[in-house]
Amino acid sequence: MCGIVAYVGHREAYPLIIKGLKRLEYRGYDSAGVALLIGGELTIYKKKGKVADLEASLIDAHPTSTIGMGHTRWATHGEPNDRNAHPHYSHSGRLAIIHNGIIENYEAIKQKLQSKGYEFRSDTDSEVFVNFIEDIQKATASSLEEAVRLAMQEVVGAYAIVLMSAEPEDSGLLIAARKGSPLVIGVGEDEYFFASDATPIIEYTKEVIYLDDHQIAVVRAGELTVTNIDNVPQSPYIQTVELELEAIEKGGFEHFMLKEIFEQPRSVKDCMRGRVSADEGYLVLGGLRDYLDSIAKSKRIVIVACGTSWHAGLVAEYIFEELARIPVEVEYASEFRYRNPIIKEGDVVIAISQSGETMDTLAALELAKSKGAIILGVCNVVGSSIPRLTHAGAYTHAGPEIGVASTKAFTAQVTVLTLMAIAVARKKGILHEDTFRRLLFELERIPDKIEKVLKSAEKIKEMAWQFHEARNFLYLGRGSNFPVALEGALKLKEISYIHAEGYPAAEMKHGPIALIDQDMPVVFIATRDNSYEKIVSNIQEVKARKGKVIAVVTEGDKLIPTLADHVLEVPITHEILTPLLSVVPLQLLSYYIAVMRGCNVDQPRNLAKSVTVE
Ligand code: AGP
Ligand code: GLU
Repeated sequence: MCGIVAYVGHREAYPLIIKGLKRLEYRGYDSAGVALLIGGELTIYKKKGKVADLEASLIDAHPTSTIGMGHTRWATHGEPNDRNAHPHYSHSGRLAIIHNGIIENYEAIKQKLQSKGYEFRSDTDSEVFVNFIEDIQKATASSLEEAVRLAMQEVVGAYAIVLMSAEPEDSGLLIAARKGSPLVIGVGEDEYFFASDATPIIEYTKEVIYLDDHQIAVVRAGELTVTNIDNVPQSPYIQTVELELEAIEKGGFEHFMLKEIFEQPRSVKDCMRGRVSADEGYLVLGGLRDYLDSIAKSKRIVIVACGTSWHAGLVAEYIFEELARIPVEVEYASEFRYRNPIIKEGDVVIAISQSGETMDTLAALELAKSKGAIILGVCNVVGSSIPRLTHAGAYTHAGPEIGVASTKAFTAQVTVLTLMAIAVARKKGILHEDTFRRLLFELERIPDKIEKVLKSAEKIKEMAWQFHEARNFLYLGRGSNFPVALEGALKLKEISYIHAEGYPAAEMKHGPIALIDQDMPVVFIATRDNSYEKIVSNIQEVKARKGKVIAVVTEGDKLIPTLADHVLEVPITHEILTPLLSVVPLQLLSYYIAVMRGCNVDQPRNLAKSVTVE
């Protein structure tokens, strides 16, 4: 999620915070704000848009203070607009909070607070957090630190927070706490910095503390203390930052794309955060609540998307038809919008888009809406154009995807679409309880299984070297691994500029097999499923023609390693969840080949991250 910067010490806080927020812009955001203690008053300036817009709006203000905090927001709960931007005042106006992350149980807490008369200025989960803290402090007459600690014991979700207070006794007080979202403390000479990573800090000090989950850092009267959620004092390790600025932005990875590939265990977990519990048999997609019945009754689902999102749609076709038994058609948005498609009353059209701004997808959705369809969105950017157009939808909560080649957005989309298909099948009453529980159980284990696949990165890197000068690639898969073959081919061609094609493996004999020779690497996604024997035959057909075979297989496969030239293993999972794992080795393969070819991996030639033109 996005950016936090806070400061207390002897310098002017405002310019330092603004500069720090600009250092964090690479993380992607939609609004920005600062809170400063000016003459004992907690003063907040915030607005939708860029940090520079905020700065321009304050050009005549010259706010002076030696304590303050700033935030760049990546919206998850509440549209990007001025009132949802951070910082947020508490109800009394005596506290202010900035927050990175997602509070899962904010609705229940908000209802309790509203019943006590609390009013809210924003739609965010973050404002609930600061009012919860204020309410606890009032009820327990405790210090602000203690109220934060008590709140942390009730709040469920991911957060990095910083709080300030306007109480006279709190004039030099900054409180920070984290669980699941990063927070770094800079330790200077009579000054302290809090930030989402070290980039805003290292020009002032390289001595930093990486706060751990469930820890609370308090700077009061120039003294830093760190305790844990049980109020046990901690002796945090102060380390010297060696990384250069650019390396820190990429989390120590060489490229954003690699960072985002490795973020997938967390981003898939964030997709499910607050939505799924296998133990409790809980699956709730709040954004679809009012339309779930209509979707369950629909006779036809049409998915419109482009590029990688179109591939996610193809995976969803298999899953929806398998579980919900509703016919699904997956359309290139650009084709759908220019023909006169047949849309009947009650048809459901789902737009899949990471950016939520892809012109072809937006236009296709508008056409579907004009023809009376129920239109839904599966998007990553909260408040983007597509979610604002749709009747309902579900955000993927994958966090900002900076690399042009989509990776974590794809697995996030497939995760959310799977949850949708399960929810619709349940609504129709055709999903047996034990199948339901097993699917949720397996979904909850996907992040750890992706983590396991990522451990083969070095092996994939070594193998990539043998193929980085290839001129063509063929990717083959069956069932829901066919869209994975398409996605693997797209990843390779868009970042390494090697021509690559994805095909249903059974289609090879209808033409592509003519391409096979010793110079043609063929990637098979050959995980164990109901077409395993068939794809083994396809591998043998390629080998018979001297083709080089790279096979993605289910862990423990004994047969294919005797046939293929290279094998990449993925853990076993429920068959319909396999694409979430089988795509990961292909993302890594394309990344390493592109790097070895000296390509600009994060900004490939001719490509844009969001295609807002036709
Ligand atoms: C995928 O790696 C590409 N960046 C591109 O195909 C992308 O998926 C397509 O432009 C759709 O973008 P969207 O998901 O933001 O709508
Ligand atoms: N969930 C909070 C919001 O939507 C914080 C989002 C973030 O990490 O920037 O405002």
